[in-house]
Amino acid sequence: MEHLRYLNKFFRKYKWRLLTGILFVAIANTFRVLPPRVIRYSFDLVKENIAYYRLFEGFALQEKFYIIFSQGLMFFGITVLALAALQGLFMFFMRQTLIVMSRIIEYDLKNEIYDKYQQLDLAFYKRNNTGDLMSRITEDVGRVRMYLGPALMYTIDLIVLSVIIVTTMLTVNVRLTLIILLPLPILSVSIYYIRSLINKKSEAIQQQLSKLTTSAQEIYSGIRVIKTYVQESQVYRYFAHQSNLYRTLSLDLARVEAFFFPFMLLLIGFSTIFTIYFGGIEVIRGNITTGNIAEFVIYINMLTWPVTAIGVVVTMVQRAAASQKRINEFLNTQPSIVSHAGKNGIQIKGDIEFRNVSFVYPDTGVEALKNVSFTLKAGQRLAIVGRTGSGKSTMAELLVRLYDPTGGQILMDGKEIRHLPLSTLRQQVGYVPQDVFLFSDSVTNNIAFGKHNQEDGANVSEEEVERAARYASIDKEIRELNGAFQAAVGERGVTLSGGQKQRISLARTFLQNPQLFVLDDCLSAVDANTEERILNNLEAILCNKTAIIITHRVFTMMHFDKILFMEDGYIIEEGTHEELQRKNGAYANLLQMQKADERSAE
Ligand SMILES: Nc1ncnc2c1ncn2[C@@H]1O[C@H](COP(=O)(O)OP(=O)(O)OP(=O)(O)O)[C@@H](O)[C@H]1O
Ligand SMILES: [Mg+2]
Repeated sequence: MEHLRYLNKFFRKYKWRLLTGILFVAIANTFRVLPPRVIRYSFDLVKENIAYYRLFEGFALQEKFYIIFSQGLMFFGITVLALAALQGLFMFFMRQTLIVMSRIIEYDLKNEIYDKYQQLDLAFYKRNNTGDLMSRITEDVGRVRMYLGPALMYTIDLIVLSVIIVTTMLTVNVRLTLIILLPLPILSVSIYYIRSLINKKSEAIQQQLSKLTTSAQEIYSGIRVIKTYVQESQVYRYFAHQSNLYRTLSLDLARVEAFFFPFMLLLIGFSTIFTIYFGGIEVIRGNITTGNIAEFVIYINMLTWPVTAIGVVVTMVQRAAASQKRINEFLNTQPSIVSHAGKNGIQIKGDIEFRNVSFVYPDTGVEALKNVSFTLKAGQRLAIVGRTGSGKSTMAELLVRLYDPTGGQILMDGKEIRHLPLSTLRQQVGYVPQDVFLFSDSVTNNIAFGKHNQEDGANVSEEEVERAARYASIDKEIRELNGAFQAAVGERGVTLSGGQKQRISLARTFLQNPQLFVLDDCLSAVDANTEERILNNLEAILCNKTAIIITHRVFTMMHFDKILFMEDGYIIEEGTHEELQRKNGAYANLLQMQKADERSAE
């Protein structure tokens, strides 16, 4: 229950809705318990009048009496109908207030979680898988809503109805009331047990279903591998096995559910028989009338629903508490990358300094950077070269604060980057990450993505997009697509080749036109000619800008003010192209091999 306390703030926020809802429940229930009384009157009326009717046997008045009598009955009938209509109306209002309130709170809560997701850092996303994040915001919030809406409504309903019915019954006959209320707790407890059994079983089914969908998804997206390795029948067997498990679990649940409803009806039937039997005894003793029996039978039937609801409500609350606990865990996670609350929109010049920077990845403990120091002046160009796994991408990630260094400092324009507002930093650094990501949207929107985001809301013109595409040497290929710039790029851009995606991602950054470019291995999947063209364009684009270019290969045709050679998290060589060549170390070695490769390719 303590986890659900978090939700009280929403009850406070919507207190008027809640209070009117409670009022409507009370009114609806008042109209609900009145008809049995009317029915009691009419029963008693019938009994009396039949006696009188017999008395008038053979008199002319008998006919008249009959008319008056039937009109009286008609009146009672209409009253019952009117009361039922009123009850329905207020039940409608009750759902409109309480259930709608739960929907509004659900909306608020989802927004709150979504906001939190946006604030959390990359390390958080590495720790939690996407499916988990999705189920927090859909399934768990859905369960919490059951507590906020139905469970709350049933509880109020239960209390109001039981109080009204039991007091009415007590005023009629105390002994009979106590006797017939006796079996109800048994009903309540047994329903609670059956419901928890049903819940446990449906939970297992849910889990099996999600396993099934996950594996189906994986099978479809990996279909190429499955087919080329001729593993279809193997995969089919696995899937069939999982499906069978699902079927067994479902049938198991169906059995319990099939038992549930008849069992409930049986218990209700027993209480009706109880009422008639003991009510009959009381009538014989002259304590109550036959009308009272009819009234009590209706009451007891009315009470079964709330009594059943206790079990339902208890399980709803338990599940909501478990879900809210998980939600709270997320809401209480503090992002480790926090934006500095400074003035936004400071222009960055582009001086960069790494001062004894070390970095250990939080989950794996991999020490990716060890005591890295270098400086870069605004307007200069830096190449970071090195073997795979040497820590190059890590340097780029630290620079845009996807992570913060575990040791040392990174300074920009002489100021530690932690002391810049995050959005200022990220808007002015054009970062092309190594793993390209395209959204399921048009090519234009993918290229203009970074611009849309900016606060001034500037619209991006077609020409700008096309120019950026031209610089990235992808415009011709886009025009050949069906729909050209408006062509939809499929899920993760499957309709494009790796090199094409890479260049669209590059165009995205060109359009952003930042002061500082960080390009992580952005030409690894393009051929030599295209590479040359892009490098030529880069010369023009990078004029007066600071640039950090990460590569496996040495770009001989481009001038760099400084080259860092990374190995195993250390900078092992540093200098200009000429200096490093003269040094005849790792860099010169790499250059030699590259040249040999090129020669053998020719
Ligand atoms: N998210 C991560 N969590 C844990 N360890 C990581 C993560 N990303 C990278 N590493 C590890 O950090 C080290 C440096 O990785 P990094 O990606 O910086 O290499 P790189 O030089 O960019 O390599 P490549 O040229 O292949 O892109 C590697 O040992 C890698 O296994
Ligand atoms: Mg890398």
